[in-house]
Amino acid sequence: EGYIGILTSGGDASGMNATIRAITRSAICNGYKVKGIYRGYEGLINDEIRELTTEDVSNIIQRGGTILKTARSKDFETAEGREKAYEVMQKEKIHTLFIIGGDGSLTGARIFAQEYDVPCIGLPGTIDNDLWGTDLTIGYDTALNTIVECVDKIRDTATSHERIFFVEVMGRDAGFLAQNSAIASGAEAAIIPEDQTDTDQLEEFIKRGFRKTKNSSIVIVTESPTGKGANYYAERVKKEYPQYDVRVTILGHLQRGGSPSAGDRILASRLGCAAIQAMMEGQRNVMIGIRNDKVVYVPFAEAIKKNKPIDKSLITVLNELSI
Ligand code: F6P
Repeated sequence: EGYIGILTSGGDASGMNATIRAITRSAICNGYKVKGIYRGYEGLINDEIRELTTEDVSNIIQRGGTILKTARSKDFETAEGREKAYEVMQKEKIHTLFIIGGDGSLTGARIFAQEYDVPCIGLPGTIDNDLWGTDLTIGYDTALNTIVECVDKIRDTATSHERIFFVEVMGRDAGFLAQNSAIASGAEAAIIPEDQTDTDQLEEFIKRGFRKTKNSSIVIVTESPTGKGANYYAERVKKEYPQYDVRVTILGHLQRGGSPSAGDRILASRLGCAAIQAMMEGQRNVMIGIRNDKVVYVPFAEAIKKNKPIDKSLITVLNELSI
């Protein structure tokens, strides 16, 4: 009786399509019917919905982006918008909502589930890896690999010109992409928000003698809402150390695209099937996560907590290996 509904919301992430495919196929396998909701919560409010069959999700596991499109809905932040969404769900006979997205999308789902009696199940889809209760989010591994590929290329030109590059990566206010791409690309330093409490990371880096044995350096910087991104650090070095030739590269939205890595495809497939299992067990208002290679159910309130901690030993690893 009725349908499950799937939507993707917020910034897209590679592996969202693999997640849509997994939820759809696992649902159909277990006797449910599926509807796809277009443009995230916007499409739920505006009734942009159509049935998804197994064929509709053929040939998408390898594709970046989301076939369902995505949006950051302002309307869903209002009580009127959510009321409309609820009415559309009734009309379309959608009994359970599956939300693939990040922090903002799951916050919306949490509020909606508090106001109306609708089971919601979240799947962590964001390149930022900033959701609590899960070791990984879908899209993070692909973005990390894209960054490393780019930094390898920047390294060639940095070395040839003996320059210092500040490379800015995404993450919003989380340093997972910066810290781990720095380790994987052999960068000299990473500047991350989690480590900005009492020490100035640029000073630290300089104190460690960043040009003692090397003729080029790469510093990965997390984007910053307060203006302390790659440009800020580059300007400081230019002023304080005019002898160095400094350049900035901001990787931007190319980090969000591309075919998902094998890791992200497998994660998306596992979590998609687990989401249907969770529904059949009567779970609601949880995000499906992965911890120590086991599927876990994380209550929305837990998943959306701010400042997911980053393992501080990663900082030591980078520092020891970049001497
Ligand atoms: O949350 C994913 C993310 O890519 C962040 O890393 C980034 O800060 C933001 O989205 C960019 O959003 P938009 O695509 O709306 O510019």
